[in-house]
Amino acid sequence: MSGKSASDYAAWKTLEQLYASDKARLVLKDLFASDPQRFAKFSREYTDSTDPKNTFLLDFSKNLIDDKVFAALLALVKEAGVESARDAMFAGEHINTSEDRAVLHIALRDPQHHFSLSEDGTGDVPAVLAHIKDFTDKVRSGAWTGYTGKRITTVVNIGIGGSDLGPVMVTEALKPYSQRNLDCRFISNIDGTHLAETVRDADPETTLFIIASKTFTTQETITNATSARDWFLGHAKDKAHVAKHFVALSTNTKAVTAFGIAEENMFQFWDWVGGRYSLWSAIGLSIALAIGYENFAELLAGAHAMDRHFTTTPLENNLPVILATMGIWYNDFYGAQTHVLLPYDQYLHKFADYFQQGDMESNGKFITKQGKRVDYQTGPIIWGAAGTNGQHSFYQLLHQGTKLVPADFIAPATSHNPIGGSLHHRILLSNYFAQPEALAFGKSEEQVRAEVGANASEALVKSKVFEGNRPSNSILLPKITPRSLGSLIAMYEHKIFVQGVVWGINSFDQMGVELGKVLAKNILAQLGAPADVKGHDSSTTGLIHYYQKIRVE
Ligand code: F6P
Repeated sequence: MSGKSASDYAAWKTLEQLYASDKARLVLKDLFASDPQRFAKFSREYTDSTDPKNTFLLDFSKNLIDDKVFAALLALVKEAGVESARDAMFAGEHINTSEDRAVLHIALRDPQHHFSLSEDGTGDVPAVLAHIKDFTDKVRSGAWTGYTGKRITTVVNIGIGGSDLGPVMVTEALKPYSQRNLDCRFISNIDGTHLAETVRDADPETTLFIIASKTFTTQETITNATSARDWFLGHAKDKAHVAKHFVALSTNTKAVTAFGIAEENMFQFWDWVGGRYSLWSAIGLSIALAIGYENFAELLAGAHAMDRHFTTTPLENNLPVILATMGIWYNDFYGAQTHVLLPYDQYLHKFADYFQQGDMESNGKFITKQGKRVDYQTGPIIWGAAGTNGQHSFYQLLHQGTKLVPADFIAPATSHNPIGGSLHHRILLSNYFAQPEALAFGKSEEQVRAEVGANASEALVKSKVFEGNRPSNSILLPKITPRSLGSLIAMYEHKIFVQGVVWGINSFDQMGVELGKVLAKNILAQLGAPADVKGHDSSTTGLIHYYQKIRVE
C-alpha cells in the first residue's frame, strides 16, 4: 500500500493513454485474427499442488487487451503495492485500519495452522474445528437428539449477510454431497414471513436452530432467534430443552449466554474474521452439518490451495490478480458500471448473490484509507444468475444493449446429474461456450443481409446485428466439488482484495450499512401514532402517516 491515490500511479496514466490511443484497435475479432496464439497467451491453468484433480482453466483471451495493456495492468498492481499488502494480510497485520483489526480468514483454512498469533485467537482454530467435527458427527449420526429423544431432521440457520449468504450458497453448491435426510433451511429476513414459512412444516422435536451472528446484536437475527425460541417453547414448554435445540456461532459469549444458549453450545470465532469472509469459520457449521466434516475440511483445503497460489505465483500467472486487472480495466477506463457472474451450473445459483455482498460490501467505498475522496470508480455492481435462465431474460441487453457489461462464465465439465447420458449437460455447456463467442464476435451486417435476403427492411437488418467486442472471462472446472468450490471462492475473495488495494480503500469494514440501521431504530419508536412522527423530511413523514392510516394489525 503506497498511500498514493490510484490515479496518481504512473501505470494508471499509461492505461489512460492506452485507452485513449488504442481503444479503437482493441477489437476482439482482429486481435484473434492477428494472433493465432492468443488463447495460449491469455489463458492460465490453476493447479492445486496437493490435489492434481483440482485443476481448472481461466481463459481471459476474450478481453479487450493486448500485450501492452496487460503489461500496464500488471505494472499497476505492482506499483500499488499489492504484493506487500497481501504479505501484510498473511502476516496478521491490522490491515483493516478503521477497525484496527487483522484480516485472517485465511488462517481458518490453513491445515498446518501456521498462524500462531495466540493473543488474537488464531491458535484456537484447531479446537473450534474439533468442536465443529464432534458436533456435526453427533447430529448427522443421530447421536445428538432433541428433547424427546428423536434425531434431528431439520437444521435452521438464523443469520443475515455474511452469517447467511455463505452457508446458503455453499450448501446449495454442494448439495450432491449432503446428507439428504437432514434438511438445511435458512432464515435471514426480518420479515416474519421468512420465519413463518420456514418453520411452518417443521417439527420442534426434531429441529435444531443455529443462531449465526458475529456480533450477536444484529436486529434481524436476534429478533428472529427470539421468535424461533418462542415457537420452540410453545411446544417444548420447559426452557431447559433449549440446550438441545439451539446453538450459537458468535464472537460475543456474553450476549450468547444472556440469550439462554449454554457456552458449550457456542462455536467461537474472532473479530479478525470479517462477516463476508466467515463461511470458513464456525459460521460454516450448517455447511459441515449438510455435507459432513470431511467435505467441509476439503472446502477449507481448496481455499487454502488458492491462498498458496495467490501468495506464491508471479503476478502474470496469478489468477486473482488477472481477474482483478480485467475488472479494473473496464471499471476505471471503459466506464463499465457492473460485472455479471454467470455460472452454468444450477448448484451455483446463489453464487452471484454471495459475491454481491463479498464484492459490494468490500469495495463499494468512495473514501480511501487516507480519508480522501477517490476521483475514480471503485467497486462495480455485481449481479448474475445461473445459465441458461439468464439467456431468456437479461442476455438481450448483454448482446445488444447500450451498456458494456463484463462477464465471467463459470462451468464444470462434468455434471453431478448426467441425465440422458449427459445430454442436458452437453446442451448446457454448448450454451456456456456459445455465449462468450457471440458476445465477443457478434454478427455483422453483411452476415445478417446474407441471411435475411434482399427483401428485408433496413430496420430488420439493423435490429439483427450483434456488434460484438463484449468482453468476458471463462472459467472451466472439471467438476464442482468441495475442494474446487473452496478454490473458486478464495480466488474471487483475493480478486476483491487486489482491487481494493489498487483503489486504496479498506475492503474490510462496512460503515455504509450503519446509517440506515440507526434511522430505522428511530423510526421504529415512532410508528405508533401520527403525533410521534418527528424530525423527518416531508416525504418520509408523509409515507409513515399514510402507513398509519392504512395499516391493519
Ligand atoms: O450488513 C452488515 C453486517 O455487519 C455484515 O457485514 C454482516 O455479515 C452482517 O451484518 C451480519 O452481522 P452479524 O454476523 O454480526 O449478525
